[in-house]
Amino acid sequence: MRILESIAGLRRELASPRDGGRRIAFVPTMGNLHEGHRRLMHVAREHGDCVVASIYVNPLQFGPNEDLAGYPRTPDEDIRALQEEGVDLLFMPGDAEVYPRGQEAMTRVEVPGISDILCGASRPGHFRGVTTVVNRLFNLVQPPVAVFGKKDYQQLFLIRRMVEDLGMPVAIVGVDTVRDDDGLALSSRNGYLNQAERSAAPQLYATLNGLAEQIRRAHKFHPEFTAPAVEQLRQAGFRPDYLSVRRAGDLAEAGGADRALVILAAAWLGRTRLIDNLEVTLPD
Ligand code: PAF
Repeated sequence: MRILESIAGLRRELASPRDGGRRIAFVPTMGNLHEGHRRLMHVAREHGDCVVASIYVNPLQFGPNEDLAGYPRTPDEDIRALQEEGVDLLFMPGDAEVYPRGQEAMTRVEVPGISDILCGASRPGHFRGVTTVVNRLFNLVQPPVAVFGKKDYQQLFLIRRMVEDLGMPVAIVGVDTVRDDDGLALSSRNGYLNQAERSAAPQLYATLNGLAEQIRRAHKFHPEFTAPAVEQLRQAGFRPDYLSVRRAGDLAEAGGADRALVILAAAWLGRTRLIDNLEVTLPD
């Protein structure tokens, strides 16, 4: 696996697979890789014959009081994992390479509206940071295909929208969430949980499943289903940020007639903010 820290080096290394007609599949990450990331690399391999990963903890997507400084950075383990997954090329730029003019002065990319709901409501500017860096990484790597996890459902939705709106020639592949045996979605932030919090954490997914079951039994979503699910999270020790049933197609609030739904939730356990989601498709 070739490891590049500079844009010049990345461009040099990408020239030969591109000229040789090899299809580049790209997986951007913030490192601290777990089984979920390994799955993304695996899927990337199915879609391309040159797998490119990036590791960059993007400061622009962290709020002033968020965990940028403490975000887990494990480059040695990450490099080993990517080698094991057969990744061809790893791009690990520093801030000066990604934001040469300084992050405040660089051109931004923002998807209006949807960036400000759900996670965007409690993390102002977060998604602008995500779409800005993903846009820049796409321009540097120029992949025909890029792979993202469905755990960050709203992020995946926004990236698809950005690609569509900007006419970018990149196919976006979404990959199902990888979970621990007890249902907890794998996330780098799970490492922040203490033992008691880790035991409570699977209740997030369990609550989403309970709500999904209720919707399926009723053959439709009723808005009054949501409050008891939020209360269930509180009882399990969470501080819910939001729990919302949305239309999978546009993330608008779901109504009783909608068939393709997604339940999205974010909730704090101590100092850790966990997110999860569950798609529910009702028969017509
Ligand atoms: O999902 C992530 O790890 C990040 O938000 C991403 C897409 C790599 C952008 O920094």
